[in-house]
Amino acid sequence: MALWDGRFAGGPAEEMIHFSESLDVDLRMWAQDLQGSRAHVRMLGEVGLLSVAEVERILEGLDQVGEELRSGVYTPGPELEDVHMAVESRLIEIVGPVGAKLHTARSRNDQVATDVRLWLREQLTALRAELTDLVAALCDRVEADGDVLIPGFTHLQRGQPILLGHHLLAYAWMVQRDVQRIDDALRRNDRCPLGAGAMAGTPHPIDRHRSAELLDFSGPIDNAMDAVASRDHLIEATSACAIAMTHMSRMAEELVLWSSAEFALIRIGEAFTTGSSIMPQKRNPDAAELVRGKSGRVLGALQALLVMVKGLPLAYNRDLQEDRRALFDAIDTTRACARILAGQWRDMLVRRDRYEAALRGDFLLATELADFLVTKGLPFRDAHHVSGRIVAWCEEQGVNFEALDLEALRCFHPSFTAEALDWLTPRAAAERRTSFGGTAPPEIARQVAALRSWISG
Ligand code: ARG
Repeated sequence: MALWDGRFAGGPAEEMIHFSESLDVDLRMWAQDLQGSRAHVRMLGEVGLLSVAEVERILEGLDQVGEELRSGVYTPGPELEDVHMAVESRLIEIVGPVGAKLHTARSRNDQVATDVRLWLREQLTALRAELTDLVAALCDRVEADGDVLIPGFTHLQRGQPILLGHHLLAYAWMVQRDVQRIDDALRRNDRCPLGAGAMAGTPHPIDRHRSAELLDFSGPIDNAMDAVASRDHLIEATSACAIAMTHMSRMAEELVLWSSAEFALIRIGEAFTTGSSIMPQKRNPDAAELVRGKSGRVLGALQALLVMVKGLPLAYNRDLQEDRRALFDAIDTTRACARILAGQWRDMLVRRDRYEAALRGDFLLATELADFLVTKGLPFRDAHHVSGRIVAWCEEQGVNFEALDLEALRCFHPSFTAEALDWLTPRAAAERRTSFGGTAPPEIARQVAALRSWISG
């Protein structure tokens, strides 16, 4: 017997029961469902729609439902359709007819909207902390190995020498903005749909402001139809997750590359790698690969939600029941990835000398030659051309920049002086880039300090 079966002569088909239930997904919101029901029943009591005794009885009953769900004594089946029905029907079994008064002035439409917002608030707050810890893990790594010299790439071709700290901080700032996006999502999530009813409000003298207050929302949603039909708060949260996942996926990709024998810059901690069942030498960066792979699911979740909502006439449509499959998966996945990545950044070995010698004489110093000539008054475009000719000449000769002496340089331009040779040291090249946001050590230190103070905010 469903709670809505008054106008029906027969029950739904067995297949329909399974097709339409959402309990397998939304049962995890039982605590939020109880929280919403408690606030609703208190409000109903305060405005005089329920007596003190009725409120007390229902509250006791809700506590018992919670206890039974927590301990696993009560395991609702699919015929109950969703968590709201599961809670309410058990309540009525426990407290009797008074339990049927709980649903006064509310509908499952505003109930589900309320539950999801409560759930989202909790989850986004946790995700916020996890992403913030990822920023901290990046800062830790910068403090440990930020001075290591590496090639900076464009087009995955060696570009300019940089310090590892510079590279890692680029990610740290991206993740900081991810946290800010979560904060934005939390802000817009912070309004209460409860009491909107099916869509039109209710003739009963309820106090939606009070319900919102009891649930710690900043206020009720202004329009009852908006309250039950909109899902942009949840799309925004998933979008923030999707963007965060693109950043995490890029990091993961670099962890995979850097741990390969070809790059050989890092060794990922054993806790985050696995062996091969056939190749004994293997130490695979599975955790990073999974982060990269799982990002696809989160991006897909965002797509699923956008498409689900885009053609829906107002107000509630059952399509909306599908939202939690995408939302829960997106949040669970993003949270797990943030934790796993933070762990990997903390638990790794950086081969500190990997590039120190390898970059000496490398053509990635070509910009240095151009910049040197700029200090002698040449326009950058001309200086760039001179430097390009030097690279071409070296390639022809089969040598690198280490073969250059002052005499050779002066064949290309008379403005070269002995000092130019000092510019051809990769570390010095990185350390000279002291402009705001540059790769020089003081700029790395400034950014770590700024991020640390934001973290402790
Ligand atoms: N299980 C539904 C959902 O999760 C609850 C709302 C049902 N409302 C309705 N009018 N059928 O979206």
